[in-house]
Amino acid sequence: MFKNKVVCITGASGGIGRGLAEMFVSEGATVAISDLKAPEETASEIGAHAYECDVSNDASVQAFIAGVQSDHGDVDVYVSNAGVGSGNGKYVAAASNESWEQAWQVNVMGSVYAARVLMPAWIERGSGRFVITASAAGLLNQIGSASYSCTKHAAVSLAESIAIEHGDQGIKSHCICPQYVRSNMTKGMPMAEGSQDGLLEPKDVANALKAAIAADEFMVFPHPVVKNYFINRSTHPDAYLSGMRKLKAKLGRAFQSKG
Ligand SMILES: NC(=O)c1ccc[n+]([C@@H]2O[C@H](COP(=O)([O-])OP(=O)(O)OC[C@H]3O[C@@H](n4cnc5c(N)ncnc54)[C@H](O)[C@@H]3O)[C@@H](O)[C@H]2O)c1
Repeated sequence: MFKNKVVCITGASGGIGRGLAEMFVSEGATVAISDLKAPEETASEIGAHAYECDVSNDASVQAFIAGVQSDHGDVDVYVSNAGVGSGNGKYVAAASNESWEQAWQVNVMGSVYAARVLMPAWIERGSGRFVITASAAGLLNQIGSASYSCTKHAAVSLAESIAIEHGDQGIKSHCICPQYVRSNMTKGMPMAEGSQDGLLEPKDVANALKAAIAADEFMVFPHPVVKNYFINRSTHPDAYLSGMRKLKAKLGRAFQSKG
């Protein structure tokens, strides 16, 4: 499906980014993976090319894209996958401004910086595919992290804006919304390892993206049940909130009994 296409993926030294990279490599693409430190080892293991890119820095994103274009040609697919999450602290909004700003820069502006570089050429040629790894938290909520929830909602919205503003110009947009997936982010996280809807592997997310691309679907649900939760949230918001409070209480009891 992606033979000789040039694919860029951020935050791809491991986890979901690596899983997505392996899928694109197996589809015949030329894949450029980046992370805060160039992921040389991962790249050589999977047959990709390594670049350094801090997505919270506009100039660094520009340099990543320029480097890939100069080494491999025009970018066909950009996967904005790098992400960060941190907890609320003692109550909602207790976390520092720096922590909120980092979530905003990485989870939202990283995609904005890339789209700003790529869109003009994509509009002119009438093709391009922008993929954002958001989260089920971008449709629902991440218990314990308001900054993650808020910025992932913004990430979903940005993916929608790309689809609405540029879909008729030949540009595709996809938004990946998984619950828990095995990666460094979820390592040792009891909420993830004991999740009632299952802890997926990165390759499951890659397969879900591949299926969504083949079906020309915007929203990617690696855990299909998330679609039902999303419908419930929009049709019964108070019941949804009450369910989330019950889940929070249940998680609190489970952690206390383990502690
Ligand atoms: N693992 C899950 O359960 C889960 C669920 C839903 C969504 N996600 C999202 O999936 C994406 C990938 O996460 P993952 O689970 O594979 O975890 P991960 O920690 O393996 O990957 C995240 C990567 O982003 C990189 N990163 C952080 N800040 C960066 C920056 N400023 N510039 C460039 N790279 C940076 C990290 O170095 C890391 O390699 C993230 O956007 C995450 O929010 C993860």
